[in-house]
Formats: sequence, C-alpha cells, structure tokens
Amino acid sequence: MRNVTIDSVTDVVIGSLGKNGEISDRGREVLTALIRHLHDFCRDVNLQHDEFLFACDFLARAGQTCDDKRQEFILLGDILGVEVLVDMLTNRIDGVESESTVLGPFYRENPPVLPKGASTAQKQFDGEETVYFEGHIRDVNGAPIEGVTVDVWEDAPNGLYENHDPEQPDYNLRGRFESDKDGHYAFRAVRPVPYPIPDNETAGELLRAMGHHPNRPGHIHFILSKDGYRTLVSQVYDSDSEWLENDSVFAVKESLIGKFEAAGDDLDTDLHVQFDFVLKGADKAIAA
Ligand SMILES: [Fe+2]
Repeated sequence: MRNVTIDSVTDVVIGSLGKNGEISDRGREVLTALIRHLHDFCRDVNLQHDEFLFACDFLARAGQTCDDKRQEFILLGDILGVEVLVDMLTNRIDGVESESTVLGPFYRENPPVLPKGASTAQKQFDGEETVYFEGHIRDVNGAPIEGVTVDVWEDAPNGLYENHDPEQPDYNLRGRFESDKDGHYAFRAVRPVPYPIPDNETAGELLRAMGHHPNRPGHIHFILSKDGYRTLVSQVYDSDSEWLENDSVFAVKESLIGKFEAAGDDLDTDLHVQFDFVLKGADKAIAA
C-alpha cells in the first residue's frame, strides 16, 4: 500500500485500524466515521495545505485558551450548534418529559446546599430585580417526585457568572435545592440578564467570521437529578428577554420559556416565576 491516491486514501486509513487497538467497538465506529467524513470534507472543499495549517494553528490556540475556568472547545461547539445537536441526540424526547438544553461552560460542581425557598444571592447589585422561582416536579404520569436534587446557576445583573468575576463572592447565584413530598421546589434569586459568551479569543474569531453575535437571552440553568430518572440538564428563559429569537448558541426551546411576572403582596421579591418540570424514568439499560 505504498501508493495512496485521492480516492483510495480513506479506505487505506480505515483499514489501518488494527483489530487489537485500544478502542471500544463504539470508539471504532466513531473513529471510522470521523475519518470518512473528514476525508470527504477535504475533498469537497478541495482543502489546500495553507488552509490545513491555519486550522491546526486555530485549534492549537483554542487549546491554549483553556484553563480550569474556560473551556474554549465547548464554546466553539456551541457557536457551531454542535452542543445543542448532541444534547438533542442524547436526550431524545418521546413523550411529555421536559426538554433539555445545553449545559454550557459555566457549571460548577458542589454548589451550596440550601433549604427550600432560600436565596442564591450573596451580594446585591444596583437595579437588580429579585425573583421567587417555584414549581412542581412530576413524572410522566403526573405523580409528584420527592427528593429531586435541583441545581441552579445564573449570571449576575452585570452579565457575569461569579467564576468569571472577581468582584462576586464564591458560588454567588448558585445553589442546590430539593423537592418536597409534593414535588415542589422553590428558591429566591435575581432576574437573569442577557450576556455575551466569552468572545475575545478563538470563539470570537469564529463568531466574527460567521458574522454572528455572541449574545444569549436571560436564563437560569437547571440540573434535576434523582436515581431512577433521566437527569435533566436544562435552562429556563425569560420571556421578556432580548435575543430569544437568535441565541448565539441556538439553545432556546419554546417549552423552556418562563414568565417573570410581578410578585403578589404575599411575596418579598419583585418577580414571581412558576415553572414545572416532568422527568422521564431512566432507561433500564442505563439504570442497570
Ligand atoms: Fe448561561
């Protein structure tokens, strides 16, 4: 096999995958398809060597941008709509369960564990609007689910997540709650505001090349988890927010838009949101 050609090189490379390679059957399936699609892509656009070197340099710079607080490759995947596509493939909807959407790059493990109704805010901002956020978590048959772990996180009224803002207390606007015996969850927070995803490095280069903007509509992130149920990673969007129609990472779903309404006199917050979730039972294969 000394003489590969434009047409034969793909089969030659795929044929080089040894039977004893340190790879699972699934890994082999993915790698084989990756080689095939990558080669087809190069042939389709007649990729030239200076363009190949540009791509290598771009990916190298993306890697150099990553640290424990910034994951440039998730951002690049978001901008290209890859994360939202992979999320929809991973969490296919086949009933009344709530829709998932992207995790995004700002989640932090081990948020503060707080009692139902407590506030995630550790600092006040000028012009902030406080919100009481509550709802019920049910299974696909409508039965309440007790003991669901509810992780929430959001940006501050200045548009920054606390781990990207030295002025905010550690874990500000992050919390972990639990649903009660009626499946009810509640917490106090602030109205999320639109923010631009980090666009000063390769993510920004890609956005500018696309002629797209970096902005996301105001949203609060959620992870709902309990043994026996499919973990739900999702976001609830403010129905009054700008950028709902053209989110920079394409993650808005109609069913995830919530209404931030003026709170009644019985509440100590400016706004009130009621938003229910439905969790699907875990796949038997996964649960096993
Ligand atoms: Fe976010």
